[in-house]
Amino acid sequence: MKNKSLYFCSECGFESAKWMGKCPACGSWNTFSEEPVIKASSDSRKKGPGSSNAAVPTPLSGVEVAEEARISSGIGELDRVLGGGIVPGSLILVGGDPGIGKSTLLLQVSRNLANSGRKMLYVSGEESMRQIRMRADRLGGFSEEIFLLSETDLETVRETIIKYHPEAVVIDSIQTMYSDDVSSGAGSVSQVREATNIFMQLAKKEGVAIFIVGHVTKEGVVAGPRVLEHMVDTVLYFEGDRHAQYRILRAVKNRFGSTNEIGVFEMAGSGLSEVLNPSQYMIEGRQEDAPGSVVTCAIEGTRPIMLEVQALVAYSNFQIPRRTAAGTDYNKINIIMAVLEKRLGLKTGSCDAYINLAGGMRLSEPAIDLAIAGAVISSFSGKPVSPSAVLFGEVGLTGEVRAVNQAESRVKEAQKLGFTECLVPEANTRNLKGITGIKIIPVRSLRDLYSYITG
Ligand code: TYD
Ligand code: MG
Repeated sequence: MKNKSLYFCSECGFESAKWMGKCPACGSWNTFSEEPVIKASSDSRKKGPGSSNAAVPTPLSGVEVAEEARISSGIGELDRVLGGGIVPGSLILVGGDPGIGKSTLLLQVSRNLANSGRKMLYVSGEESMRQIRMRADRLGGFSEEIFLLSETDLETVRETIIKYHPEAVVIDSIQTMYSDDVSSGAGSVSQVREATNIFMQLAKKEGVAIFIVGHVTKEGVVAGPRVLEHMVDTVLYFEGDRHAQYRILRAVKNRFGSTNEIGVFEMAGSGLSEVLNPSQYMIEGRQEDAPGSVVTCAIEGTRPIMLEVQALVAYSNFQIPRRTAAGTDYNKINIIMAVLEKRLGLKTGSCDAYINLAGGMRLSEPAIDLAIAGAVISSFSGKPVSPSAVLFGEVGLTGEVRAVNQAESRVKEAQKLGFTECLVPEANTRNLKGITGIKIIPVRSLRDLYSYITG
């Protein structure tokens, strides 16, 4: 057996024989770190002549399907993102920036499960028992029946799970777990992969649901959760502006449900609480009648969410005007502004433009194009858009406004929140004939939008 070492990208796990400044797989800079690899000798798998390694395949029809009995986490928004509750025997990765609230969420889940009489193990490699206790006191409502372990040794954690056989386990965080069998340091790509492998086997063999926390990392030394995405059943990312109160839990992979769902939470003094009406929440505090402010309706998963798009367009003092896009795609902004300039003759070429999705929400759905265009026109012309109007539609390169999906649920959401008019792509209006009580204004091109705003 020969020890050799390889270089791994801590962003995506890309493997290379030599160090590189930029990862060719994911494009990140400075993320390669060296890790020793010990390859098991291939002889151990070879058998004598005549013996066979072949397994007996099963026909599809011969596979029994037991209806998965899902466990409710006691948090409706989390259950929704998971596709209807926790699947026993599944491995769930919860990723997110440090401090976003992963430990808080999972401690709340642990509390709810324990309170409903399930055996729960919370393993922390980051915090002492005392720290966890203090957090628990802050959250409140804990019963005795939640077991804590402050441990980073992978083997100890594994044996504890086998011995105590809990129904669900939280590992906080995967980057602190350490196995002696792997010679690289804690948090390295090899360590994190090894630990995840072991938890995957445990989850399947013992039928225990395991949540693993993975911090999103900025530097190359500690492996980020993306390295593990392909290994686990479900990947949830917890995102949001750390300075804003609300947090969004988003499924980016789910072997047991849809990946489009999001859950919305608010960080309060006593932990995370669910936001049951995100639309209301997102457009609260909007300054009505301000030029450059437009409300749109996006679809996240199966759920429509209203939000405010803001634009500030002003003559630039710089040679090259500045443009920023907070919460959406920078290129999208450039394209929409180019279309506005070319098709409507809007002279924004020498203007700075700042676009912001209020509240720190991140979206790149094409349906918000029309609202972005509306906000730019409104800011540039100084004419406010009616505060009771909602805009959605995709903008094409010739300035045409194209149909979007689920127009009906968008309009209904707008109506539910008291909006009285809706600017929608003309192609969508055919399917909106049945809707009453809200004025539907068809738009065919940006020209229609321009005349609506400037009168
Ligand atoms: P935490 O769950 O420790 O984040 P992570 O595990 O993702 O690193 O959450 C950290 C932040 O949440 C911390 O800055 C304090 C804040 N917080 C509250 O505002 N209210 C609370 O009840 C709790 C427990 C935390
Ligand atoms: Mg934590």
